[in-house]
Amino acid sequence: MPEEQTLPYICHVFVCTNDRQGARKSCADGNSQAIQSLLKEEVKNRGWAGRVRVSSSGCMGLCSKGPNIAIYPQKIWFPSATSAIVPEILAKIASQLPE
Ligand code: FES
Repeated sequence: MPEEQTLPYICHVFVCTNDRQGARKSCADGNSQAIQSLLKEEVKNRGWAGRVRVSSSGCMGLCSKGPNIAIYPQKIWFPSATSAIVPEILAKIASQLPE
């Protein structure tokens, strides 16, 4: 039987960085890589590493609403994301962390 464990992260943030090179709309059109980098830096600066993880993801199947960011296990979706939404995402993450 395969080993199964609970993830150590309170929040795992996925930023779609899929890039179709202009062939069709994709989240990279909205500079999602820069948003992901900013989120990673802010998480690190807050000392949340180990409790919060920021990862790139492939297509979430919601391309027309991109750039897309999702937080699990909270199942929160931030469509049409720009760097301006980063403070709101960080506040949402902070509300999930124990005091
Ligand atoms: S390219 Fe990001 S959801 Fe499809």
